[in-house]
Amino acid sequence: MELPPPQPRKGEVHVAVEAIGVNFADVAVRMGLYESAKHYVGWPIIPGFEVSGTVHALGAGAHGFQVGQAVFGVTRFGGYASEIALPEAQLFAVPEGWSAAQAAAFPTVSLTAWYALRELCKLRPGARVLVHSAAGGVGGAATQIAVACGAKVVGTVGSARKREAAREAGAEHVIDRSQGPWQHASRVLVPGGFDVVLDAHGAESLRHGYEQLAPGGRLIVYGFHGLLTRGKDSPSYARLALGYLRTPRFNPFEMTGHNRGVLAFNLSYLFERADILAEAMTELLGWVRAGQLRPPPVSTYPLHEVARAHAALESGNNIGKLVLVP
Ligand SMILES: NC(=O)c1ccc[n+]([C@@H]2O[C@H](COP(=O)([O-])OP(=O)(O)OC[C@H]3O[C@@H](n4cnc5c(N)ncnc54)[C@H](OP(=O)(O)O)[C@@H]3O)[C@@H](O)[C@H]2O)c1
Repeated sequence: MELPPPQPRKGEVHVAVEAIGVNFADVAVRMGLYESAKHYVGWPIIPGFEVSGTVHALGAGAHGFQVGQAVFGVTRFGGYASEIALPEAQLFAVPEGWSAAQAAAFPTVSLTAWYALRELCKLRPGARVLVHSAAGGVGGAATQIAVACGAKVVGTVGSARKREAAREAGAEHVIDRSQGPWQHASRVLVPGGFDVVLDAHGAESLRHGYEQLAPGGRLIVYGFHGLLTRGKDSPSYARLALGYLRTPRFNPFEMTGHNRGVLAFNLSYLFERADILAEAMTELLGWVRAGQLRPPPVSTYPLHEVARAHAALESGNNIGKLVLVP
């Protein structure tokens, strides 16, 4: 679809987009399952949470960047485009030596993992962390960040071919869920329980994660991709309903008695919190400079082959991140 070029408003930067990160949220938007998207933008909607490119023009009062500079940033929708205007607080300089694809693949997964581990969990050295889908976008970033904080990570993956990627991200142990129930293997590996369990599968997995928390431990819920059918480009409403019914309801009396917590979040609100966004990106880019955090492995697709990229994400076989090139 052809639209007129965006005009940067006060405090905005006009970016010529070179790469776009693909996220599970884009799939949920496409399927009509992202409820708050309707609240923030309404329909019809252009998906896309993150881009990289070069600064094309600066709006009034935008002083942080120069025309021609390589930048990456986050956007609450609208990223699947060749040009975009973004508030400058949502943009950052591309680290030395990174490609446009690596830069576009970085912010959403790293910010999600940072928010879970640093903002919600205040992760301490020596903490035991369980990360599901540790070879994926958020899972790979969470594994690296937990290790950068001095924690020890047990990662789970859905197939043997993903083991190596989870190990490369820094997982001390990797459980291949295709070999049997992860909750048995993780109990043997960490009998005292986990300080943090990160879960975007949803349903049954949440119950098992809660049961494996050590005293003072936290279950962090940040997605529900297990409610979708792998390899299907539309939701099964029967599966969604069943998943909804099987999702545990946590009881505050029990949580107090067990000394375990359950927290859930989504990053959409962060767009109103430039202070937290800046704090997060300062720490993330510090780890990048220190060599403790790398961009995920990326696979690129031309923007017009977005359907193929979504199908790859929906297959559940992806490693690292998928990136679109306009
Ligand atoms: N709360 C937030 O603000 C926020 C922000 C970003 C992302 N998220 C959520 O984080 C999760 C991961 O997102 P991502 O973009 O980084 O994706 P991803 O982890 O790169 O890919 C999804 C992975 O989930 C696993 N999976 C399990 N069941 C699946 C199914 N039914 N269909 C497809 N994959 C399935 C697969 O890995 P294994 O088989 O190895 O487990 C797959 O590789 C998603 O649920 C997403 O919605 C939340």
